[in-house]
Amino acid sequence: MALPSVNPTKTPSWKKLEHHFNEVKYLKMKDLFAQDSERANKFTTTWDDFYLDFSKNRITDDTFKYLLELAEDVKLKEAIESQFSGEKINQTEGRAVLHTALRAPESATVIVDGENVIPEVYKVRRKIESFTNEIVNGERKGYTGKPFTHVVNIGIGGSDLGPAMVVDALQYYKNHLTTYFVSNVDGDHVNEVIKKLDPETTLFVIVSKTFTTQETISNANTLKSWFLESGNEEDIAKHFVAVSTNLDAVSNFGIDSNNIFPMWDWVGGRFSLWSAVGLSISLAVGYDNYASLLEGAHKMDKHFQNETFESNIPVVLGLISIWYNNFFNAESEAIIAYSQYLYQFATYLQQGIMESNGKSVDRNGNSVDYQTGTLIWGEPGTNSQHAFFQLIHQGTKLIPADFIGFVKSLHGNQDHQDKLTSNFLAQTEALLNGKTKAQVLAEGTKESIVPFKIFEGNKPTNTIFIQKLSPESLGKLIAMYEHKIFVQGVIWNIFSYDQFGVELGKQLASKILKEFSGEEKNKHDSSTSNLLTYYKENL
Ligand code: F6P
Repeated sequence: MALPSVNPTKTPSWKKLEHHFNEVKYLKMKDLFAQDSERANKFTTTWDDFYLDFSKNRITDDTFKYLLELAEDVKLKEAIESQFSGEKINQTEGRAVLHTALRAPESATVIVDGENVIPEVYKVRRKIESFTNEIVNGERKGYTGKPFTHVVNIGIGGSDLGPAMVVDALQYYKNHLTTYFVSNVDGDHVNEVIKKLDPETTLFVIVSKTFTTQETISNANTLKSWFLESGNEEDIAKHFVAVSTNLDAVSNFGIDSNNIFPMWDWVGGRFSLWSAVGLSISLAVGYDNYASLLEGAHKMDKHFQNETFESNIPVVLGLISIWYNNFFNAESEAIIAYSQYLYQFATYLQQGIMESNGKSVDRNGNSVDYQTGTLIWGEPGTNSQHAFFQLIHQGTKLIPADFIGFVKSLHGNQDHQDKLTSNFLAQTEALLNGKTKAQVLAEGTKESIVPFKIFEGNKPTNTIFIQKLSPESLGKLIAMYEHKIFVQGVIWNIFSYDQFGVELGKQLASKILKEFSGEEKNKHDSSTSNLLTYYKENL
């Protein structure tokens, strides 16, 4: 069964929202708070160790009601069931979308093409577990008999961003292995990493779903050549492993068939950290922590699948984001995590969100006449307060923001934690209330300076307060955003699981590369021609 295909703008709820928007667009949130002492309680939902306060949004009871009706009108419930049950909802590529199956319990049944995929998933998980234990415990050794000390993940996009973000986010839980990530085809990236490696004690994990990606294969070949300056061809089997769906290409690279960790075409690259793509995570933090990460994601899956929409965290976040994107015409959303551990979180989400929902053709093949995917950006607090918060507070753009914080710190330094949390809470309060002329004057500000010190306020935020950063809560948080992506894709009536938009640039790059070697001569626009000549002449 395909996903329902409903033009959201033609639904009764959308019409209601359009009309309603004109009535509420100038409302001040602080007035709404003053009028309703229950507002914060009403627009807060708690689940497990998550506390979501979405009361600091430009919504009223009616807004929320109509948004929930929109979810019904586009048949979101049906769509969720189609995804979880293994329907081929990635219609443009004829594939199921089953990252959720990767974290389902062993007792689950998820059928794809008539076969239950769960036994295969657990076979690979066992392989990840035993391989991880052998490397971490030093039982598996390098070609000179030394235990491994370094792991290099070679991959790009979904084969890099997820594992890199998680390994960093969970560094508190990390073991003795040092982990590096090589992604960019910029040779300076791989060469800087090589400087830190010893071939005798380094394990290379090549991660590529297709095993054809230019960046990954180039980096893998460079690292293989570097390795062969010390080791022999037969030593490659000890030092190189691969994660891929393309088993033939992996074998051709020279990797031992026992060292291949398979994945499946129903796992999208940007949703793949739950598959063997997460091998570097398991190696870095140990299999049990990796399993907890997956368990957390599974708990969020259950919440998403079963919770009524009004208290369903990914649904609520998805709907609020639609409200700003499609009615207030907000172009971007900021993700501000008050944890230095999450400093790669926004970068990671950029691929997840923008590669998925950066589409302009609907599920019937027609160009859309409404806005889709939001721009995502962000940096951790408090650093970002000293970088771009000025624009959020006093700039001309409306930038809804998710504030993510943790009640407990990991190292237990309460003085720092109190300061961090006071900033976390103060910012959303400041964005809500702003500062009036009267307040500025009361501070004794010189008349001529007053306009510059006024803060309009009324800037929307969601607060996601989580007990503690752990493998499990991180799994929940990532899955929360994955499901938000899904909710929005369903509402916008687009296909969220292909990424044809990244192909054109790749094709042209391979043509230009052939021109450098003189293999091809192509016609270009005059700008590209000049740039090409400039490069060749100045090499
Ligand atoms: O850039 C497009 C893309 O296909 C991403 O979706 C994917 O995560 C990345 O390239 C890497 O692909 P692969 O794992 O096949 O090397």
